[in-house]
Amino acid sequence: MSVAPSSSSQTDRRSVAIDRAVDVVISSRGHASPTRLESACALLRQQAPLHWVERPGVRPFRAVTRYADILSIETRGGEFAAGPRTYLASETSEAVLQRVTGKPQLVRSLTEMDPPDHGAYRALIQGAFAPPALRETELWLAHWAAEMIDRVASRVRSFDFAVDVALPFTFRVIGRMLGTPEADDARLARLAQAFVGAEDPQRRLAESPGDTMRMAMLALRDYFEAVVADRRAKPRDDLASLIAHAEPHGAAMPHYELISYFILLVTAGHDTTALALAGGLEALLAAPDQMARLRAEPELLDSAIEEMLRWTTPVRHFMRTAVCDTEVAGQPIREGEALALFFHSANRDEAVFAEANAFRIDRSPNPHIAFGRGPHICMGLQLARMQMRALFAALLQRTDRIELTGRVRRVQSPFMSGVSRLPVRLNFRALRSEAAE
Ligand code: HEM
Repeated sequence: MSVAPSSSSQTDRRSVAIDRAVDVVISSRGHASPTRLESACALLRQQAPLHWVERPGVRPFRAVTRYADILSIETRGGEFAAGPRTYLASETSEAVLQRVTGKPQLVRSLTEMDPPDHGAYRALIQGAFAPPALRETELWLAHWAAEMIDRVASRVRSFDFAVDVALPFTFRVIGRMLGTPEADDARLARLAQAFVGAEDPQRRLAESPGDTMRMAMLALRDYFEAVVADRRAKPRDDLASLIAHAEPHGAAMPHYELISYFILLVTAGHDTTALALAGGLEALLAAPDQMARLRAEPELLDSAIEEMLRWTTPVRHFMRTAVCDTEVAGQPIREGEALALFFHSANRDEAVFAEANAFRIDRSPNPHIAFGRGPHICMGLQLARMQMRALFAALLQRTDRIELTGRVRRVQSPFMSGVSRLPVRLNFRALRSEAAE
């Protein structure tokens, strides 16, 4: 005879399940395992959407997993500050940072800033990322995408789309805008990746994530100090010169903020887009009907790209801190409470996206928040879309088949994650001149 469980044991089981889901959502490994991550997010959205998390070694915070709540917090900049607690970090690494740098963060850039600095610093280069300024870049991107595909066309065997195409393709875009030489791309990309993915064993430069971040930060600082000195002596028509001469409040930027600006651009500007490209291709390979449709109806490319952005959501969280007593979805939030906004969960929220776990290239509307929203909305969103459009257009035009040839690997990080290894083989279409021979 079965015995009905007591309500207290049901409550215990529920809180154990919630705790386990939180472990997945805040862990590096959780983000490298899509199935576990999706079910953990679904459980939290359903049962504990604004869950108060207390874990040894991490200052308490709320895990926010519903789309509507994240959107509401992101767009209420006056009530929720972006700094100084911008990412989830252990108390140990926060203490080390405080001791070493005297600040709660390794860098202080736009993502860590609030008014009045945020607006003043953002305005410095926002124009360079607006569509009129990007027109020349868009024309160049079509050539650059074709060249990238040519570089791998000679490889008869398989190659790694994430490492050999997506990363070098995206890094050159930001390197070209900044004005750094192509010869430095691989080194800068490696440092930038270590900086944002310090927990990942393949991205580490040292044993501990804290040491990795510090090493990457110091190497990037040395590199950009030299760039700043060069541009101050000999200004050029590039972003590095613009930043080196910028005066956000009518005076030169303090050194810490100046170097942070460069670090923000090299970290935000390529890994994110590379993860969306590799994850987008992986999604197409896993859904052959969607791949066939995109080949047959190339006019769906723009909506396919929006779906890839929703699907991959490379930036997994940012944090906000309540600056006053307030509420979210009727739940009181006290001044000083920190909230981690899990964008990936928002983009799989069934309350907004029908069949959220299906990858559909014609999804419409698709109000995903892969680029965030509100005052900190991604400054490079048009540039990211242009890059994705150019590379997928070149790839699909020149191939008639793409196959996965090995194991997919994902970045282990609760901050920026997605596909970091995607071994594939391309079958190139016969060009007309070859076909005629
Ligand atoms: C698929 C590619 C990309 C994704 C998914 C992405 C995502 C994001 C997200 C989620 C934020 C924070 C938004 C918020 O807090 O509300 C952000 C901020 C930012 N992104 Fe991107 N990004 C991408 C590409 C780029 C590129 C190519 C650049 C060019 C340099 C860029 C530059 C920035 C900057 C400067 C910020 C800080 C804005 C601020 O705090 O005011 N991003 N991005």
